[in-house]
Amino acid sequence: MNASQLSPAQTPDQGSTQAPAAAVTASGGHSLYGGVTNRRVTVRDLAAAKQRGERWAMLTAYDALTAGVFDEAGIPVLLVGDSAGNCALGYESTVPVTMDEMTILSAAVVRGTKRAMVVGDLPFGSYQESPAQALRNAARLMKEAGVGAVKLEGGERSARTIELLTESGVPVMAHIGLTPQSVHALGGYPVQGRGDEAAHRLQRDAKAVQDAGAFAVVLEAVPAELAAHVTETMAIPTVGIGAGVGCDAQVLVWTDMAGMTAGRVPKFVKQYANLRAVLGDAAREYAEEVRGATFPAPEHSFK
Ligand code: KIV
Repeated sequence: MNASQLSPAQTPDQGSTQAPAAAVTASGGHSLYGGVTNRRVTVRDLAAAKQRGERWAMLTAYDALTAGVFDEAGIPVLLVGDSAGNCALGYESTVPVTMDEMTILSAAVVRGTKRAMVVGDLPFGSYQESPAQALRNAARLMKEAGVGAVKLEGGERSARTIELLTESGVPVMAHIGLTPQSVHALGGYPVQGRGDEAAHRLQRDAKAVQDAGAFAVVLEAVPAELAAHVTETMAIPTVGIGAGVGCDAQVLVWTDMAGMTAGRVPKFVKQYANLRAVLGDAAREYAEEVRGATFPAPEHSFK
């Protein structure tokens, strides 16, 4: 058993003098959101949130500036997802993303934030070979980029790896259901867990990653009812994406959620802004003013 399997009350205090990351709310309760804090969110804060029944939001981030905005907005966990492949690096999927790329992006997100727990994704090919390979690359993300945890895909098939990482002091967020790194094996991005056999497999995967020591598990593209059932049976938080409202937390890819993504977005995405239009309008107006010699104006010029 490791710390993520203990309730916060059972977790031995390491003698820390740090203030709690959870802010005190008006009603005197604690909240992961929006408080003035002087340290990063930890796995213990997330375990405590599960105990309180407090839901939380995770967003992806791939650079320091955007991560800083989300940190100031009180997002407690930022994922440097290998979705950077599609959303920042111009690849067609997450498959080509390398450890070098993940290390650079993760370091930028850590530098741009003060409070969020930063989780770095282990990209395709960086952990499947062996638990030892996974530990080497997870340690690299922690040492060179400064992430507080790593994420990797797979349930039962990744349990041995999760066990070694957590025993070695690497907090692991697992990712089951639809695992985008297997896009070629799956033949696309189909919903997972439909039908009795697939539902049982998902439940086994969830149990396996929890038993192996994961501190949280992402459930991607899973029927809402099944995700809610899994969430009820789990001691660690579930983080849903396309998995309905019954999860402990939710994650969205920031470029989808803010309307930066070109073209269609998945059904499970809600767009909270239309940044692509805002940015496009700004660029067009700037170019127009340059052409018309109305920029720079006297107030933008030196005497
Ligand atoms: O890479 C990523 O952004 C992810 C999330 C969609 C969970 O894995």
